[in-house]
Amino acid sequence: MTTVEPALRVLIPAERIQARIRELGAQIDRDYPGGPVWLIAILKGACFFLADLSRAMKSSTRIDFIGISSYGKGKTTSGEVKLTKDLDSSIEGADVLVVEDIVDTGVTLNYLMHVLEQRKPRSLRIVALLDKPSRRIRPVDVAYVGFQIPDEFVVGYGLDYAENYRNLSDICVLEEGAKP
Ligand code: PRP
Repeated sequence: MTTVEPALRVLIPAERIQARIRELGAQIDRDYPGGPVWLIAILKGACFFLADLSRAMKSSTRIDFIGISSYGKGKTTSGEVKLTKDLDSSIEGADVLVVEDIVDTGVTLNYLMHVLEQRKPRSLRIVALLDKPSRRIRPVDVAYVGFQIPDEFVVGYGLDYAENYRNLSDICVLEEGAKP
């Protein structure tokens, strides 16, 4: 066993996350009065954000999920991406908001936006809880950002390391040496 607990440093505590999500929900309500807004979460990490954001909104929402896998992520990203799970519904003519936990290199969202644009939604925007602009290698236009963060390895609130830590309520930095 490794000593994991001491090496997790809280970067954004749960209360700040929830307060920012309430602000984002109110802002999105103003931009899409009444709705309906299709909230599309990218599996798996964005599910937690989707659940809280949708409940922070008063406009009507509909939810769907999409799965994407990318190869050679991180420093050696190849930019190769493929769809592993498609939407259940058509988004033609709909107001669509892609819900993402973190924008890192931008490879995932750059690809996904091209895919979704072809399906002729009425509008298509991105809401991302976290943004690491220093890591971008593909352009992505993020309409709503929760927090800009530095280039550190973060886990919690949906974000994982080898599938661990997704259920933390805080967003934490996983310090070197703590990776199991
Ligand atoms: C993470 C994150 C984004 C993507 C961002 O997903 O949830 O979808 O990486 O990285 P990018 O901007 O460099 O493309 P991941 O592939 O780890 O899957 P997960 O959500 O299932 O953990």
